[in-house]
Amino acid sequence: MEEKTLDENRQGELLMVEENALPLAPKNGKKLLLESYGCQMNFSDSEIVASILTQQGYTTTRDAEEADLVLMNTCAIRDNAEQRVRGRLQFFSGLKKKRPHLQVGILGCMAERLREKLLEEEKLVDLVVGPDAYRDLPNLLDNLESGQKGVNVLLSREETYAEITPVRLNTNGVTAFISIMRGCDNMCSFCVVPFTRGRERSRDAESIVNEARDLFQQGYREVTLLGQNVDSYKWNINNKGEISDPSKPTVNFAQLMEKVALIHPDLRVRFSTSHPKDMTDEVLQVMAKYENICNYIHLPVQSGNTDVLKKMNRGYTREWYLERIAAIRQYMPDCAISTDVIAGFCGETEEQHQDTLSLMKEVGYDMAYMFKYSERPKTLAERKFEDDISEEIKGRRLKEIIDQQMTHSAACTQKHIGKIQRVLVEGTSKKSTEHLYGRNSQNVVVVFPKGNIAPGDYVDVQMQACTSITLNGSVVQHYPRVI
Ligand code: SAH
Ligand code: SF4
Ligand code: F3S
Repeated sequence: MEEKTLDENRQGELLMVEENALPLAPKNGKKLLLESYGCQMNFSDSEIVASILTQQGYTTTRDAEEADLVLMNTCAIRDNAEQRVRGRLQFFSGLKKKRPHLQVGILGCMAERLREKLLEEEKLVDLVVGPDAYRDLPNLLDNLESGQKGVNVLLSREETYAEITPVRLNTNGVTAFISIMRGCDNMCSFCVVPFTRGRERSRDAESIVNEARDLFQQGYREVTLLGQNVDSYKWNINNKGEISDPSKPTVNFAQLMEKVALIHPDLRVRFSTSHPKDMTDEVLQVMAKYENICNYIHLPVQSGNTDVLKKMNRGYTREWYLERIAAIRQYMPDCAISTDVIAGFCGETEEQHQDTLSLMKEVGYDMAYMFKYSERPKTLAERKFEDDISEEIKGRRLKEIIDQQMTHSAACTQKHIGKIQRVLVEGTSKKSTEHLYGRNSQNVVVVFPKGNIAPGDYVDVQMQACTSITLNGSVVQHYPRVI
């Protein structure tokens, strides 16, 4: 069966296309189509790319037929993520035949993984640029003019694009992502990210706080702090735990989150992704202390069996993970928790699969992203273990996991009914122009009648009904946004 998640806006290989109008700049007459696939970090990176190319005078288009440059910011996390991009490349190949001046570039994780191969295999690609090389885009585009194909896939130990102000793409003017770190040092045995994103590095804390403050002043009311493992954020501390610059303060993730929360009580703070081995009580205490830090944690478990976790090189046991869940519940009894799960990792037995189901039942996740294991080149698992669980068994196990989670998710949504909760309004409901939607602190989508309410306002909503993943209610209090 097709892999599915319960919230198609989030992590993973899910196709999401960005096509936006960039702000006016001295134009070069060229039109850019920028498409993003994969996780939130990729969407955040596209906003950096948009910023760099706006400076070059590009304007964007939603229409592939009128684009001069197509950039696809790609994901390599699972094979099907790459297959989708290949399919889309075929489409652009057709366009290129009609309009030979069209330039096509691949950015992001697939660019980093396949490098020059993309130029050789897919003759239609002109440009291959890895996640740490976006500053080189103007240069590479110039080279294209003189007929050269452009490749830059150098990974960096320092690049954080700290001072580049992202151009907000596809924005609702209310919620925004802020990258706080890049790369990953964890080397989970199944995962391609350390190879595509390079070494972990944290971004200057001050630049993060300034970006969040600017967003608030522009009217934004929610920021999501992004990193592959936000709990290992550290500024001014090197990997050996030594202070880099004694004249400056050190900042860990709990402290960074507190600084952002202190900008204004009306600025909501979210973050993703937490790693069970590194999530500290200090983070939970800061979350509990500030009303504007949302009560929602995405804590990927991957498997409920300790031996499988060891083979995955996750750095925790089933018991450790359950203890972290208990700590979350102790500090924030109403905190929503979601997770990522992989079905059919190398050598996974039926009993080990049952352990994943029993852990998921024990935790009762509000939401989960669930995947079949997909072997990725270069990873430890690819080199050391056999991908020996058949597609059929992977599919069956995934279905069992999804079916069980659907009942948990529905029950979790149901438990909000009858409560009055604060909701940040994000926009018009997809189903009815007479309704708006927003999210409660636990990240559940809430739909309510429009009245005189606008995006960016806060409302208190009495929850009255629900589908399995959405709440419906009526507004009992309205707090208009003041900019
Ligand atoms: N940094 C995050 C995860 C980033 S990737 C973390 O450590 O939690 C998002 C999710 O994709 C992972 O949590 C995992 O569940 C899934 N994933 C990663 N590699 C995969 C693979 N080879 N096959 C299937 N799912 C995978
Ligand atoms: Fe991949 Fe593990 Fe890093 Fe997450 S923590 S990005 S799963 S290596
Ligand atoms: Fe995909 Fe790269 Fe993100 S592999 S999940 S886009 S870090």
